[in-house]
Order: sequence, then structure tokens, then C-alpha cells
Amino acid sequence: MLAMDYRGPYRVRATHKPDPQIEHPGDAIVRVTRSCICGSDLHLYHGLVPDTRVGMTFGHEFTGVVEELGPEVQNLKVGDRVLVPFNIACGQCHFCKQDLFGNCHESNAQATAVGGIFGYSHTAGGFDGGQAEYVRVPYADVGPTVIPQWMHLDDAVLLTDVVPTGYQAAEMAGIQRGDTVVIFGAGPIGIMAARCAWLFGAGRVIVFDHLEYRLDFVSRYGPAEVYNFREVDVVLFMKKITDGLGADVAIDAVGCEASGNLWQTIIGRKLKLQSGSAIALHWAINSVKKGGIVSIVGVYGPTGNLVPIGNVVNKGLTLRANQASVKRLLPRLIEHVRVGYIEPRRLITHRVPLADVADAYHIFSRKLDGCIKPVLVPAGA
Ligand SMILES: NC(=O)c1ccc[n+]([C@@H]2O[C@H](COP(=O)([O-])OP(=O)(O)OC[C@H]3O[C@@H](n4cnc5c(N)ncnc54)[C@H](O)[C@@H]3O)[C@@H](O)[C@H]2O)c1
Ligand SMILES: [Zn+2]
Ligand SMILES: [Zn+2]
Repeated sequence: MLAMDYRGPYRVRATHKPDPQIEHPGDAIVRVTRSCICGSDLHLYHGLVPDTRVGMTFGHEFTGVVEELGPEVQNLKVGDRVLVPFNIACGQCHFCKQDLFGNCHESNAQATAVGGIFGYSHTAGGFDGGQAEYVRVPYADVGPTVIPQWMHLDDAVLLTDVVPTGYQAAEMAGIQRGDTVVIFGAGPIGIMAARCAWLFGAGRVIVFDHLEYRLDFVSRYGPAEVYNFREVDVVLFMKKITDGLGADVAIDAVGCEASGNLWQTIIGRKLKLQSGSAIALHWAINSVKKGGIVSIVGVYGPTGNLVPIGNVVNKGLTLRANQASVKRLLPRLIEHVRVGYIEPRRLITHRVPLADVADAYHIFSRKLDGCIKPVLVPAGA
């Protein structure tokens, strides 16, 4: 089959690999119809995630058609069109039973924090991902969800990560009616968080980024008030526009590759003395009001980060964070798409043949050509 292949930082290609096989009676083999590239894939592509092995196929956001099933799978049949959550979850462990499908205790032998994730290095279980023609899906009775007949595939593929992550970012922020919400990052996750903040009753939604084309998009799609973090002192400015108090809640939808502070960039992204740059998180902590909530969905690695913990204590903040629990949220979000509260596919700006995966990574990583979300389409899909 044709599949994306990681060769080292900034080097990926499409290459021929052996077709995946059923390895466990609970597996499915899925023929991929869409797969996206995520901001999380960029952390791998940029060489920031430990134990990302040459030869791995990335891709944790995909839809497909069930091609083959292990003998124990009961909830799917061959030919089903499915969307597959990015979390690999057993459905049985202590954490899955609490709906913490992103923290499954069984699917990632390499760690006790995050569960397994498709195509996300050996720190997330070493599973090959869906930027390929075929993919092996473990625990096939748990994650894969049949796509409703009425749903567009481009909406379905965004339900595997972007929509649930944006929604969970707003949910974890504990938004109360009328709250001022500040969101750092206008990538697909920040954009979706802005849209979802309104569903929780926000009174004002503010988004910071430095890419004008993304700010322009979220100003209409959110909608949101937008500001370029290179043009203002973010924390002072936030105080100024909120009667000196700060936002009620803040969302970090940037994670470890934040720009905007030279010192953080040098020690985090260049020297790797901490897990990337945490400047968006600093801004979130420092621009939220006393007693406020900071919701973190931006990804940080297992090593430590310099964060202003004293300000968290002295302001009485609540920090909430996680990988999104996609399966928990799907029933509600499928309904939100059906009635039009969320229109996921408007985020897709680039549709690229799987064979040209290297170009798609380059465009998305460099934020060229107005790129918000690229989707890879295998030939014949
Ligand atoms: N928790 C989860 O379940 C989950 C799921 C998906 C993605 N993520 C993470 O969410 C983050 C965003 O993903 P994405 O796909 O939107 O990525 P993206 O790379 O498309 O977008 C990130 C955006 O942040 C902006 N940015 C950079 N520095 C900033 C700063 N200091 N302040 C404000 N904005 C800044 C960039 O210009 C860019 O537009 C990533 O860290 C990704 O790994 C988490
Ligand atoms: Zn993703
Ligand atoms: Zn589990």
C-alpha cells in the first residue's frame, strides 16, 4: 500500500509499505478514505517528540471503510463507513470506564499518562497511523463509529479530533453565561474552541494569533474578536479591555511550539531544555482573572516546562487539561453537526493526494497559501 513515511525531522514521503494485517482478534483493517494532518503531527515533523522512529506512518485523524475484521469484533461489519477517534482505547480499564478514553491504561505500554494514539511516536504506543491507504485499528469494538448516511466525509474526518478537542477545550474551561473567553491560537483547534465557546454561553470570545489570515477566518467563523499578539503586550492589553480584571477563562490551543518570546523559543524549541516554548500558557495564566480557569489542550511533552506556578497559586486559578476524549463526546457532536451548530468542513482549505503528502506537510508547517486544515485523499477513495 501507499503510506506516509517519516524519515527524520522535516522529511516525510509517500512510499510503498506492506499492507497491515489483523494481529489480534479485536482488530479491524480499515481502508482509508480521508486523513488529515494535525498541528500535533507538526510536533512530530519538527522533531520535538521523543522516540519518533524513522519508518513510522503518522495520521491520527481518519475515516475509512471496514475491510477486514478480527474474529472477536462484534460492533462492526465489513463495508461499514467509519470515523476513527484519535485515541486508541480498550474500553474496559479503570480510566476508560470513567470515559477518559484519552488516558486508557492498556493501549500504551510505554506510558502511564497518555493512552495510545494512532501514528504518534512510540511515546504514544508506536501504532502506525492513517496517512496511508490502509490502517490496523486495535480495539475495533471501542473507537470506530459508523458514519451516519447524511454526514459528509469531510465533516466526519474532523470529528476524529478537531471538533471534540475544540469542544472539550471550551467544556474544560467551565464557561458560565456571559463569560469573557480568551483563546490563544487560531489553528483548527483554537478556531473550533471559539465556535464551541458560544455553545456554552460565552458573552465575548477573543482570539490571539499572529497569522492574519487565520485571525480573519476565526473572526467570521467563531465569530470572535481577534488580535495579533505581535502588535500588543498581550497581558496588559487583556487587562485593559476587561476593566482591569482579566478574562474569565483562558484556553491554550497552541502548545509547545508557541512563538512570541525569544527566551522561551531558545530554551524550549532550540536547546530543548524544556518541552518546547510555553509562552501561550504564560499568557493564559497571566491574562485570566483571579479565580479563573485555564483550559489547556495545546500539547506539551513529557519533560517539564517553566510555568508561572506562583501566579496560579496566588490568583487562585484552576488548571484543566487533557487529550480530548473523542468517544465520550461523539454522540453530542454528531448531533451538533446535524443541526448545523458546528460546520466542521469549512476549515478544510487543502485537499491533497496521499502521494503528495510531503507537499502537504510543507504547506501546513510553513502556514503557506492560506492553509488552515489539509486533508489527504488516497487514490480511488
Ligand atoms: N489535547 C488534544 O486532544 C489535542 C488534539 C489536537 C491538537 N492538539 C494540540 O493543539 C494545538 C493546536 O493544534 P492546531 O492543529 O490548531 O495547530 P496549528 O499549528 O495549525 O495552529 C497553532 C496556531 O497557534 C499560533 N500561535 C503560535 N504561537 C502563538 C502564541 N504565542 N499565541 C497565540 N497563538 C500562537 C500559530 O500561529 C498557529 O496559527 C497543538 O499543540 C496540537 O498538538 C491537542
Ligand atoms: Zn489531531
Ligand atoms: Zn482502557
